[in-house]
Amino acid sequence: SRAKKIAVLPGDGIGPEIIDEAVKVLRQVEKVFGLSFEFQFAMVGGGAIDRAGTPLPQETLELCKKSDAVLLGAVGGPEWDENPPELRPEKALLALRKELGLFSNLRPVVLYEGMEKSSTLRPEVIAGVDLIVVRELTGGIYFGEKTRQKAEGGEEVATDLLIYYEHEIERIVRLAFQIARGRKKRVTSVDKANVLESSRLWRTVANRVAREFPDVEVEHMLVDNCAMQMVRRPADFDVIVTENMFGDILSDEAAILTGSIGMLPSASLGEGSFGLYEPVHGSAPDIAGQGVANPSATILSAAMMLRHSFGYEEAAGAIENAVKHVLSRGYRTPDLATHGQMAVSTEEFGDRVVEELSRYEPSPSIPLE
Ligand code: NAD
Ligand code: IPM
Ligand code: MN
Repeated sequence: SRAKKIAVLPGDGIGPEIIDEAVKVLRQVEKVFGLSFEFQFAMVGGGAIDRAGTPLPQETLELCKKSDAVLLGAVGGPEWDENPPELRPEKALLALRKELGLFSNLRPVVLYEGMEKSSTLRPEVIAGVDLIVVRELTGGIYFGEKTRQKAEGGEEVATDLLIYYEHEIERIVRLAFQIARGRKKRVTSVDKANVLESSRLWRTVANRVAREFPDVEVEHMLVDNCAMQMVRRPADFDVIVTENMFGDILSDEAAILTGSIGMLPSASLGEGSFGLYEPVHGSAPDIAGQGVANPSATILSAAMMLRHSFGYEEAAGAIENAVKHVLSRGYRTPDLATHGQMAVSTEEFGDRVVEELSRYEPSPSIPLE
């Protein structure tokens, strides 16, 4: 089969450091599995503002559109925080998601064996955590109309419209139910239906979709309660489906169930096999340039790319197992080296994952005819 075209957008802060490790791992996957990837790098975010005057240059968008998948590091940083909205690094992410039709964001949250003590939560609370946040990604308050103006009396007033169409709710909720069928068959639909009209529509649509999946258990939970239950009895969750901003916030909270935000990968998908893959965390300006960032989230995002965009399930599983093994052998970047383990650098962690993969024996391929 022809080489898969991967657009690589390292971005800002720790972005380039963690992307280096993910690309290194993908190159090892090529060798071990006899696969072929064509990497094409492009600018995005703050770096693109500085060099090209815009967070998402046309060439970058075009490259993404003609690629099979996009691997992105992170964008943003204090240098650009005072910029007007169109000239903010984060605008690039929002535009990519919208332009590429990536309405669903899958954020798996898995506690790997031996990691129980690396979280700030008690081991017995997080034991058995294996959930996925299915976040709506191209609607809601992120994309509704925004205004800012002078009000009477001279003070300023600003608004952000939280808007959802039925079809936007329906497609993300349906995806969540489909995902649940391959898991523990439990969907928690999270909203704020006691206050928000958009949430009442969400709940109506969710109930309608639920009828297509009688084999899947559904519960509705208000977002404030969900935030609490997530740290009280996190192992009870299976699939959490929710709107854009609630999903953003709940997934950072959920990160601590795994020990670190440096562990959470994500896949942003639309109707076809094309997808954008990026860690859930940001550009971490506080640790950028020090070689200490945890590359796991980005490496695991690359694994999601192999699975969801290319159908390379075995190679995806091999990457995930390699990360698991490296962690269980006690190699930890500083965010996880909280119990006397030797802290390794971003690069050394990546090297260990590559080494682990080099020992992998691919299963013999079964001819189709
Ligand atoms: P952040 O996720 O960048 O960092 C939060 C905390 O987690 C920091 O202490 C950071 O050091 C730590 N952290 C994050 N990733 C880590 C990793 N891989 N290894 C070890 N520690 C890690 O969130 P923030 O500080 O709120 O935002 C910083 C910038 O990133 C902002 O400009 C924000 O807009 C942007 N951001 C971008 C994305 C993205 O590109 N997808 C996501 C979130 C935030
Ligand atoms: C994320 C980030 C983005 C979001 C920002 C940087 C626009 O926090 O991917 O979770 O809010 O979606
Ligand atoms: Mn976020």
